[in-house]
Parts: sequence; structure tokens; C-alpha cells
Amino acid sequence: MKLTPQLTRALNEQMNYEFSSAHLYLAIAAYVADLGLDGFVNFFQIQYQEEIFHAQKFFQYINDRHERIEIHGFDTPPKTFDSVLSAFELALEHEEAVSARIHGLVKLAHNETDYFTVNFLDWFIKEQVEEESTFHSIIDKLKLVNDGAGLYLLDQELKQRIFTPPVQSK
Ligand SMILES: [Fe+2]
Repeated sequence: MKLTPQLTRALNEQMNYEFSSAHLYLAIAAYVADLGLDGFVNFFQIQYQEEIFHAQKFFQYINDRHERIEIHGFDTPPKTFDSVLSAFELALEHEEAVSARIHGLVKLAHNETDYFTVNFLDWFIKEQVEEESTFHSIIDKLKLVNDGAGLYLLDQELKQRIFTPPVQSK
């Protein structure tokens, strides 16, 4: 069963969007590096790796369906942010936009009665709940601690994050 041209295009767009998400998080990592917040750098470097992993899942899936993968360029991410909190708020907004896009893809896959793709996207539906939750909880903490000693402690906490790719990669 072939992917429809519309679905192929939409999956390619999402793959490229995941790569651009990776770049956005790398830009935030650069911003927090400039502030000397190594734990936050670690957090966003891992977020970067996660986005690359997401993009690669789309790459692999389009390839598995024997369609053409298309790599695009993307916009330059912001260089600076008003604060660590506003960088996280932007990240959360970004993840909410990703969730909306994934929902749109699921809808399209249903319309095309492509249940292979519906099944493939199920992983991303679950993942987006986690992504939004991660950013929400750090935003809550940032609002509690303000700057200074609290930020330092949160920075220490974020040093602990490690990248663990899921065992089932498809
Ligand atoms: Fe993602």
C-alpha cells in the first residue's frame, strides 16, 4: 500500500519541522551557556538530541514506505531571549504547535485511511503529552525560584537529565 502524495508531503514537512525544533533547542542551549547555566545547557542539549531522534523516526518511516525523503532548510532561530523563563515559555509554545501538527497528521492519515501511518503516529501522540508536561513543570519551578540561589539549584537538578532513546525505535 502506497503513501498518498499528500501524506508523503505532510510527513516530510513534519520531519523537517523536527529538525528545526532541534535547532531551536540548540539556540536556547547556546543562550543558557552564555549565562553559565551548565545544567540548563545539558537539558537543552538532550532536548536537541530528542528532536533529532524524532526527525529520524520520520526519515525512517518515509523510507520504510518507499517514498522520497526531502530535506529542507529552515529559519534561523532566535539568538537571545528575555530570560530563562521566557525561553522555556517559547519552548512550551513550540511544543504545543508540534502537538497541533501531529494531531493534524493523524487526522489526515485517518482521512486517507492509512492505518499504518495512524499507528506510526501513535508514538508521537504519547510523546507530545510528555514534552508539554516537561516544559510545564520546569516553567512552574522557574516561577517559584525566580533568579539567584533557586536558579542555581534548578541548574544542578537539570544536570541529571540523560538521553535515553526508547527501546522500540519504530
Ligand atoms: Fe519533537
